[in-house]
Amino acid sequence: MRRSRILGTGSYLPERVITNHDLEKLVDTNDEWISSRTGIRERRQVAPDQACSDLALAAALKAIADAGIEASDIGMVVIGTVSGDMPFPSTAVLVARDLGLKCCAFDLSAACSGFMHAMAMADNAIRVGMCDYALVIGAEALTTIVNWQDRGTCILFGDGAGAAILGAAPVGSEQGIGPIHLHSDGSLAEALCIPAGGSRTELTPELLEQKKNKVHMTGNVIFKHATRNLASVAQEALESAGWTADDVDHVIAHQANLRILDACLKRCGMSSEKLFVNLDRYGNTSAASLPIALDEARKSGRLKAGDKLLFLALGGGIVWSGATCTL
Ligand code: ACO
Repeated sequence: MRRSRILGTGSYLPERVITNHDLEKLVDTNDEWISSRTGIRERRQVAPDQACSDLALAAALKAIADAGIEASDIGMVVIGTVSGDMPFPSTAVLVARDLGLKCCAFDLSAACSGFMHAMAMADNAIRVGMCDYALVIGAEALTTIVNWQDRGTCILFGDGAGAAILGAAPVGSEQGIGPIHLHSDGSLAEALCIPAGGSRTELTPELLEQKKNKVHMTGNVIFKHATRNLASVAQEALESAGWTADDVDHVIAHQANLRILDACLKRCGMSSEKLFVNLDRYGNTSAASLPIALDEARKSGRLKAGDKLLFLALGGGIVWSGATCTL
């Protein structure tokens, strides 16, 4: 069966910067606490007239140009997001429309693992011949769904989008994505969620007042599971690819917290020099963070053809994922 590979990438970050010092004016926090606990120094925020699909489209156009294909070549658009333009239709159909496409297009809800889950769907579609080129996007306008009075969450999140074009790898080549490993543990669903506004709990004026339509998180619970689960899925991905930790050239991971990633790499016996980090500039952009990191690492010249990558992500659900990829 054919494999898929990454043909091009793109990313887009909105212009407005919110620094840790800006947040000191909003909630009881300080730059020292935020940067030492998370590694984050600043994050981006959408303009009032920007929504998730605008960020996604900008990243997609760059990825299409980078891959050297025409938009009309694309047979699938899949977006990982938890902050789409509307509850429905999907943000993917809006992006497909703006690209002049009428192909298969859908969103996928896997929080910070959204891009990895989307990539798995696109990879499988290419493997079985459902399409030849897929546009995979992680895009978030998270600053529109955070509670700006909650210092435990509002300091973490930022907005942005990253995209990749997947196409078939040459038969017999080393290049390609996967295997991809996806996991979930719904017993921790309430540790990171938006409690109201869905079919379980209708939004009332009281719940709106209590910001129950915004992100709620028990950070230390997520932290504990993140370190352990990311390390175990990393081992799983390496084993199924027949790689050892030493084979990995670069780790491209969801950028939530530098302490989580450092601890995970330590458990895997990998040097932190293999880790690409941009969370200091963008914070946690959920599904967008891994493809933005991938794009920045590629465009910086850090990655070269033939390099072996390890992708890792974990987010609300909780869900987590790991995959190998040879460029
Ligand atoms: N500034 C100052 N103090 C703060 C802040 C803040 N912004 N936020 C919390 N504190 C305080 C708490 O109130 C607490 O005070 P107390 O000891 O007096 O009660 C103290 O700091 C410690 O709080 P913890 O929550 O235990 O701090 P922790 O070291 O766990 O760091 C953090 C919090 C950064 C949120 C961490 O738990 C984390 O990164 N968790 C994982 C986040 C994550 O990976 N999420 C998944 C992806 S997101 C997605 O899927 C959308």
